[in-house]
Order: sequence, then structure tokens, then C-alpha cells
Amino acid sequence: MANVMIMDHPLIQHKIGYIRREDTGTKDFRQTVSEIAMLICYEATRHLELTDVDITTPICKTTVKTLKGRKLAVVPILRAGLGMVDGMLTLIPTAKVGHIGLYRDPDSHKPVEYYCKLPADSAEREVFVVDPMLATGGSASAAIQMLKDKGCKKIHFMCIIAAPEGVEVLKNAHPDVDIYIGALDEKLNENAYIVPGLGDAGDRIFGTK
Ligand code: PRP
Ligand code: URA
Repeated sequence: MANVMIMDHPLIQHKIGYIRREDTGTKDFRQTVSEIAMLICYEATRHLELTDVDITTPICKTTVKTLKGRKLAVVPILRAGLGMVDGMLTLIPTAKVGHIGLYRDPDSHKPVEYYCKLPADSAEREVFVVDPMLATGGSASAAIQMLKDKGCKKIHFMCIIAAPEGVEVLKNAHPDVDIYIGALDEKLNENAYIVPGLGDAGDRIFGTK
């Protein structure tokens, strides 16, 4: 079954509290989403394997640790996932970036696919799918299925805020995918928005409302 990791770092909690506020403007919202993504990335990459390499410091020869050369990719779910990419690349600058375009149909709340462009060798990469919001879980489940259909085997999902309903859906759809969550909220409302949540993440990142 999927591992579900809920972040307890005080900096992450503080920053999530800030972006929940309705009076946090676009510039600060965008900046803070990026910072939160970077902090969650730090936790979500703990499992990466290291190997020894011999080097020479200005003083002597020694052996140091280096990442074992596993190839990584970051895949944001458009639009709002874009807000997490810079934070991820700050810590893993050599990762390739793919894009999956999905929007929620306003009536059915089901995801509708409109774009998919992945690194050519994505099947060989360990993939971090990023989206600030896990609400019904439909978008994350569909995006991960698209990646599996392209041959991706090692996939993680990272979000800033999740509803319990979405976590259950994602866990059941993809038990092999670890889920990293900044904060687990109470529930979904009648419009499938997360309560208390932060509103529409895409609109708040891009200032479209
Ligand atoms: C939001 C969010 C997720 C999705 C979550 O995107 O960024 O992708 O909703 O909801 P779900 O778990 O119920 O699928 P939205 O569809 O609003 O598109 P946008 O990012 O283009 O605004
Ligand atoms: N998408 C969002 O942007 N916010 C929610 O609360 C649910 C889905």
C-alpha cells in the first residue's frame, strides 16, 4: 500500500498557513508555494540512494557521497502544478520537466486531459508529480495513469494541501505511489473544493480571479 507522508516541519506549516489567508496576494502566494515545494522536495527525496566517489580536497584525497545517478523528472499537473516546479528544481536542478494538462470539469469534477509532453526517456526516470491540491483525487490519479501508460515505474506524488477523500482515491488507484502532503485538511465541500483549503490554487498563483 502507498506510503502517505504528512509534513510536520514548522516552516512548512507556517508557510501553508500564510497561503491559506485570503488576503495573501498573487506575488506572495506564488513565492510561498515555490518555497513550500522546495521544503516538501527535501523530505520527498530522503530515499535517494548515495554512492561513494573518490575526490581530492585542497588538503588530501578522500571519499565522499554522491547521488547514485538515478535520473529524475518533475511533472507538474497544469496549471497550478507549475507553481511548484521552480522550488523542486532549486534542489534537483538536473531533473527533466514534463507537463500534463488536466482541468476539472466544473459540473462532473472529473479531470479532462488537454496536454501531455514528457521527457523522451521518462520511462527510465523516477518521477515526482506535483500539484498543490489533491481534492477528489481524480486529477492526480489520471496524471499518474498517463505516466504509467508511457512506461514510468517509479512515481511519487507531492501536494501542498490534500482532502482525506482524495488521499483514499489516490491510494486505491495507485497503491505503488508514495504521497507527500504538506497539510491534510478536513473535507471537500459541495463543489469539491478543499475545506478549509486555500481556494483555487491556479487562480491564486496566476492571478486569474
Ligand atoms: C486543480 C488542482 C488540481 C485539481 C485537484 O486544478 O490544481 O489539478 O484541481 O482536484 P481533484 O483532486 O478533484 O482532481 P484545476 O482543475 O482547477 O485546473 P487549473 O490548475 O488549470 O486551475
Ligand atoms: N482545486 C483547487 O484549486 N482547490 C480546491 O480546493 C480543489 C480543487
